[in-house]
Amino acid sequence: MKNFTSVYDIDNLQNIIAKALKIKENPLENPTKGKGKTIGLVFLNSSLRTRLSSQIAAQNLGLNVLVLNAAQEAWNLEFADGTVMNGDTVEHIKDAIEVLNQYCDIIAVRCFAGMKNKEDDVNESILSQFLKHAKVPVVSLESATRHPLQSLADCITITENWPFDKLKINRKPKVVLTWAPHIKPIAQAVGNSFTEWMQQMDVDFVITNPEGYDLDKNFTKETPVIHNQEQALKDADFIYVKNWSSFDDYANMPKVEGDWMLTNEKLEVTNQAKVMHCLPVRRNLELSDEVMDGKNSIIYQQAKNRIFSAQAVFSEILDELN
Ligand code: CP
Repeated sequence: MKNFTSVYDIDNLQNIIAKALKIKENPLENPTKGKGKTIGLVFLNSSLRTRLSSQIAAQNLGLNVLVLNAAQEAWNLEFADGTVMNGDTVEHIKDAIEVLNQYCDIIAVRCFAGMKNKEDDVNESILSQFLKHAKVPVVSLESATRHPLQSLADCITITENWPFDKLKINRKPKVVLTWAPHIKPIAQAVGNSFTEWMQQMDVDFVITNPEGYDLDKNFTKETPVIHNQEQALKDADFIYVKNWSSFDDYANMPKVEGDWMLTNEKLEVTNQAKVMHCLPVRRNLELSDEVMDGKNSIIYQQAKNRIFSAQAVFSEILDELN
């Protein structure tokens, strides 16, 4: 694996899930694999899980870890080419990346959608600069349109709860991605990415969201999009809860009819569905306390699997470097 920015950087999804599950059994199986090598974790946006799970994963492999909370601790970055930098920006992103090349064997970066210019976000204006200027492998820690380490952790979690090779059940699990309410516009990256990865899994996958909130068709492709949540949830085995803002009316929040927050009552039409969320979650807005803390939630298991998702990916990249 050279870079890891989407499901398309994986050769075989089932193999990497199996690898991650094996790592989970013994995370310190290869404690010197990354010895003498350095990974830089660059955060242009906030994080709890991605920052810590990536750090644990890298340390489990013996990598040196540099964490740069760039938004708070680094110089104010300029992203536009050709700019006369006589304003607030102090360092150009391409100079910063060239310097990271001197210090790191792997560069991992979190760069959310700016949510101001649709074209910039769709074209991954920041991640693309890393891919262009980095001379070492680049790992996405969530970009404008995707969150691949989260999605791999989601696939691992579904596999643990529906062990495809061991179950006698002669059907695919039904997985539903449901939109949830929020107070402010949120990017589509998690929803896009989960969609892309579910399309590669052996599952029956549907998306449900209010009118006006359909994800980018470049991600949803042939996946059914149902605007009636109750209908979509019927017989679900897994429900993935996530908010996102409008893609068509970019980064806006069109008016929504009805209550889209998942409750125990809504779970009654499901097949005792397991409930997932990438976190952070706004309780009793996106997801009710009763579901979050209830027996159907596998959300903390999902968060733990972020370690093994990252470790499997870093391990594959080290295979190329060693
Ligand atoms: N799910 C996730 O990426 O969490 P953080 O934003 O806290 O890293």
